[in-house]
Amino acid sequence: MNRSFKIFTILVALLSGFFVSQAQDKRDDYLSADFHQDRREQLRKLMPSNSVSVFFANPTRNRANDVDYVYHQDPNLYYLTGYREPHAVLLIFKDNQTDEDGESYNEIFFVQQKNPMAEMWTGRRMGDKGVQEQLKIENAYNGASFKDYNIDFSKFDKVMFNDFNNDVRDNPNDEADLYSLIEQFKQKVGYVTDNNALGQELPSRNIDIRQLNRYMSSLRGIKTPEEVELLRKAVFISTVGQVEVMKAMKPGMSETEIQGIHEYVFKKYGSEYEGYPSIVGAGNNGCILHYIENEKPHIESKEMILMDLGAEYHGYTADVTRTIPIDGEFSAEEKAIYDLVYKAQETAIQMCKPGVTFAELSKVAKDIINEGLAELGIIKSPSARHLYYPHGLSHHIGLDVHDLGTMGALAENMAITVEPGIYIPEGSDCDPKWWGIAVRIEDDVLITKNGFELLSSFAPRTTEEIEAMMKQPSPLDAFKLPELKGGK
Ligand code: GLY
Ligand code: MN
Ligand code: MN
Repeated sequence: MNRSFKIFTILVALLSGFFVSQAQDKRDDYLSADFHQDRREQLRKLMPSNSVSVFFANPTRNRANDVDYVYHQDPNLYYLTGYREPHAVLLIFKDNQTDEDGESYNEIFFVQQKNPMAEMWTGRRMGDKGVQEQLKIENAYNGASFKDYNIDFSKFDKVMFNDFNNDVRDNPNDEADLYSLIEQFKQKVGYVTDNNALGQELPSRNIDIRQLNRYMSSLRGIKTPEEVELLRKAVFISTVGQVEVMKAMKPGMSETEIQGIHEYVFKKYGSEYEGYPSIVGAGNNGCILHYIENEKPHIESKEMILMDLGAEYHGYTADVTRTIPIDGEFSAEEKAIYDLVYKAQETAIQMCKPGVTFAELSKVAKDIINEGLAELGIIKSPSARHLYYPHGLSHHIGLDVHDLGTMGALAENMAITVEPGIYIPEGSDCDPKWWGIAVRIEDDVLITKNGFELLSSFAPRTTEEIEAMMKQPSPLDAFKLPELKGGK
């Protein structure tokens, strides 16, 4: 190859790279096909001999009339495949199976068929070939062929799947929709009952509806480096949302608007969705643990606002809560409660390392809160029963906000929350000066070899840091919109 031709070739390659990157339809930092393949391999290792695991896609959910909710894949199926479309079933075998042509295989995936007319309305589909090429799952077939897929489930010692909720709609015109795939599976496996309550004896002795969840918990509870990378992004995005709101906060804003600022930041970074409905509660609304109405039109200067929001980035969700004074300064009572929650949280966070149990962390936080509440005279003694801290301290985060994971001892590469809170609703049996104070501080922690890393450290956490951040100017101060006529 002569020199000028070589340079020309390099230029073309660089430019086409440029145009490809300009024209790309999606981001390039999703979990890799290798990640998903490795996860299937790890599950296969856990499975007992002569067994099969079966996973179905999540159902689509109707919002009203001809509008569906945004589709969200079943996290187990996503974890194992990367597939983000509905109407699919995956079978993973412990041992190699032989098909009718004598070929051996140890997994098979039935997916949504390509359909140009449907895709024009509701979006692109991978189809079996797309799944083979992009997700690198060799044995992918159209869902319509599941019906005639010839397999004798009775030959397995165990057929493992998660029980069905019987909440899937049938599309009578589609023999490969999720409803049909489930019905066909039930027939093949001899799972005949419609009212199959957990605990009831199942018709076929080789069916197991419990064990799969345990296997998936042990896998999903320990994050791989690729997952940690996505979680890091999700958590960082969420903390930037908290910081921007701290700067922009003004009395008179609405809870909805504050929610919108967080979610705008999420979207600005490419987070597709919220990992759970955003919780933005001013004053007494903060006492409702999962307050998602977020409808108070004018927040008051003498209140705090509790903001529990998590960006979801490529499926992985953060879970971060900050509670801040609307006028930028904590009152004496607010600070007393805040500092108590902070002390419980900080003590528990500092204890995080492999081997420490979730129960130990919880007890330490609970004891600090009980002693503090007694000292403040809000409860009569540290052992008094109360409902001011009614929830747990920690859970795993990941593809679910309350992610699958084991709840015994902490281990390296677990990602968990530490989230104590105190909630004193109006009318509580204590001095009214405490009424309407609700504080939750929630951070996301990665367990490391010898300790922990605070993933959410970008968002100020002490009262001093929060007050200082709230004095910073916000770019939103200059963002003025026309008045909404007729609104109040
Ligand atoms: N955002 C739900 C929770 O904190 O667990
Ligand atoms: Mn949480
Ligand atoms: Mn939360």
